[in-house]
Amino acid sequence: MEVLITISLLLTIFFVFKAKKYSNRLPPGSMGLPVIGQTPDFLKALKADKVEVWFHERISKYGPIWKVGLFGNPTIVLHGPSANKFIYSCGENMLTNTQPPSTSRILGKKSILELSCHDHKQIRAALVSFLKLDVLKQYVVKLDEEIQHHLQMKWHGRTEVKVQPMIKNLTFNIICSLLIGIERGSKREKLLPLFQDMNGGKLAIPINLPFTQFNRGITARKKLVPMFMDLIREKREALEDQKHQSNRSKDLMTSLISIRDDDSSTMMTDEDIIDNIVAVMVGGYDTTSVLVSFLIRLLATNKSIYSNIVQEQQEISEGKSLEEALTWEDLTKMKYTWRVASEMLRMYPPVPMNFRRAVQDIEYEGYIIPKGWQCLSHRWKHALPDSSTSKYTTSHKKHLAKLYLTIWNLSGRAIDRKIASFIEKLVGATIPHQRQHSNHIRRARMHSYNT
Ligand code: HEM
Ligand SMILES: *[C@@H]1O[C@H](CO)[C@@H](O)[C@H](O)[C@H]1NC(C)=O
Ligand SMILES: *[C@@H]1O[C@H](CO)[C@@H](O)[C@H](O)[C@H]1NC(C)=O
Ligand SMILES: *[C@@H]1O[C@H](CO)[C@@H](O)[C@H](O)[C@H]1NC(C)=O
Ligand SMILES: *[C@@H]1O[C@H](CO)[C@@H](O)[C@H](O)[C@H]1NC(C)=O
Repeated sequence: MEVLITISLLLTIFFVFKAKKYSNRLPPGSMGLPVIGQTPDFLKALKADKVEVWFHERISKYGPIWKVGLFGNPTIVLHGPSANKFIYSCGENMLTNTQPPSTSRILGKKSILELSCHDHKQIRAALVSFLKLDVLKQYVVKLDEEIQHHLQMKWHGRTEVKVQPMIKNLTFNIICSLLIGIERGSKREKLLPLFQDMNGGKLAIPINLPFTQFNRGITARKKLVPMFMDLIREKREALEDQKHQSNRSKDLMTSLISIRDDDSSTMMTDEDIIDNIVAVMVGGYDTTSVLVSFLIRLLATNKSIYSNIVQEQQEISEGKSLEEALTWEDLTKMKYTWRVASEMLRMYPPVPMNFRRAVQDIEYEGYIIPKGWQCLSHRWKHALPDSSTSKYTTSHKKHLAKLYLTIWNLSGRAIDRKIASFIEKLVGATIPHQRQHSNHIRRARMHSYNT
């Protein structure tokens, strides 16, 4: 702990020194306290869903480019479409995808979120092998099973449901099933608090003292690593036993373990596997649950959208018996539902910002972004088309999908079409598809959005 504080202080001194060198070329703005910077204020705004206001206060004070201390690193915030274009297209020799140091301490240094160039390509190839269409199709059954169980346990027969905590619970259970292949029971129960602490610590005030959120995240990671080590060992043994039945649907962890020998260039160490599972768990958790929660709130507040979605879902469920599981083909029919979800993504982007790190001194609009500083693009909602006239139309959906893909592509994180489609299907699948459940949604009232 002392070591971390010392390192942080040294870094701060280093950056202060560095800032001096460029003091007349740095953009305006206030760094805040050493190490802490303006992180508490920023997190407060984020929690209160006032992050837009937080940015705009500073934009009106300093203009579209300003500096601030965030998550233990000096940061330059860039605002506007041309800034976004620059951030997403300048290339890895200028900006890398690196997360803030406190985030990578919790999510791991070998995760795809930290890598660039060749290493990034390798890990991505490994992750994508889990998302082949024929494999994806098998997940739908697992998804359906988790969702049915969840609705039975937590929604059925209630007149009021707090949607967001429930959706988070469901998402966690789906993650356990699909990504790490642990069934309902004591293992999931043990993992839940660890996962929650890590998720809560990933963007926290980066002070590692007892009882800080950051400290809880680090402690949770320390407990999670041996647990995942054991899991990996168990799965290796199981794989050895069932070599002949290789067509079983695999969870992500098993699929990463099985990449070996035949393609040693993408072989992953235990550390690689753990860090990337954690990254994908965390990456899929808030994003999916935020989207689904907003979607359900919309169903509760907008009658016409509600009845359109119910109609689409009913048409699909009418062709099936109650016990029959949802299939991939069913998901491809949820076209309207997905368009509404796309609009929710535009209105409430679950990832409001992306961090980058300068790998060299960069000159931008007459300012210097010094090497080692973070770069933050202010959420790019404004870069998306205003869909007020074309909401929920096919062309808008296409436009949105293309924009997402382009941004991902440009960012050097080219998301494979399969990943994009997987996200689509995963999200699509979490919409209840049976009549009995639709009624619960109507009655459900949304409570908290700002946890
Ligand atoms: C509504 C749901 C989701 C949204 C809005 C979303 C958004 C994003 C965004 C904006 C990025 C790029 C971040 C950056 O460039 O800094 C990203 C990356 C990523 N996401 Fe998601 N995500 C969602 C769901 C998921 C799910 C369910 C998974 C996994 C099961 C996932 C796995 C990943 C991975 C692995 C990356 C890194 C890709 C790479 O570096 O090549 N995401 N996501
Ligand atoms: C969420 O799920 C876990 C395990 O799946 C369960 O133990 C817990 O009680 C659930 N929480 C709520 C609020 O339902
Ligand atoms: C797995 O393999 C067995 C025997 O080869 C076959 O009968 C079964 O249909 C296969 N299952 C899937 C899901 O492909
Ligand atoms: C519901 O959504 C539709 C489509 O966006 C919109 O035209 C309508 O005004 C909304 N109704 C309410 C009550 O918000
Ligand atoms: C992403 O990049 C690849 C190769 O650079 C290109 O072929 C593809 O069309 C791009 N996709 C999008 C959606 O821009």
